[in-house]
Amino acid sequence: MSRKWWFILAAMFLTATLYRNRLRTYLEQALANVRDFDLPSAGAYDALVATVLEGFYARVAGEVTAARPGGKLLEIGSGPGRLAVRLARENPGITVTGVDISGAMVERAARRAAGAGLSERVRFEVGDVAALPHSDEEFDAVVSTLSLHHWSDPASGLAEIHRVLKPGGEARIYDLAHWLWLPARDENRLARLAAASLFGEGEVEVVRWPGSVPAFVMLHLRRQPLP
Ligand SMILES: C[S@@+](CC[C@H](N)C(=O)[O-])C[C@H]1O[C@@H](n2cnc3c(N)ncnc32)[C@H](O)[C@@H]1O
Repeated sequence: MSRKWWFILAAMFLTATLYRNRLRTYLEQALANVRDFDLPSAGAYDALVATVLEGFYARVAGEVTAARPGGKLLEIGSGPGRLAVRLARENPGITVTGVDISGAMVERAARRAAGAGLSERVRFEVGDVAALPHSDEEFDAVVSTLSLHHWSDPASGLAEIHRVLKPGGEARIYDLAHWLWLPARDENRLARLAAASLFGEGEVEVVRWPGSVPAFVMLHLRRQPLP
């Protein structure tokens, strides 16, 4: 290697050594943003991922609509708000509340609802599924897509969903199939989670999308009706 390249390598090494703390901070911040779906990753998720999933949201909206959600629907981990807006459009009689731990996602979703002229029936707020900012028995139905695998405490999440559902209300939690969800690799995890929760049990259905690919599952939970 010529002397010029040795010099460039030495300069790069020196710069990295001098600025290593600053570089580490930038890197940690970038990783935290991606993990928390904060700016700019909320925009990137919406533009690159959510846009490809419109067919999946249509399918989920169809299933939720077929179950005739009355009155008030809660969406957890509502992200950029595509499903919430679709649900409100397809069900003129309902209101949809989206809750998401990322402020950037909530802002984006609120802009989408406003753009669709649905702000009166679709609203979004920041909140953690493990400590929902809602009253007991406030909602007729709950839906969530592709969020559960991000929850740091899924058991508390299910306890909160049970608390905010009206007796007789249903939750549909869609998530990645276990073979796509690398940290879990456990087919029965969702069923066990449901069995250990106040719901007592839950059905896990395979959701084939796109086409016949079994890429998703849906955990179907029902809160017992009053006797
Ligand atoms: C992969 S995105 C899915 C977004 C949207 N539901 C969709 O299907 O496109 C996961 C979403 O869950 C949210 N999330 C992660 N942990 C959460 C928690 N503990 N409580 C509420 N939302 C959470 C993230 O901020 C993110 O918007």
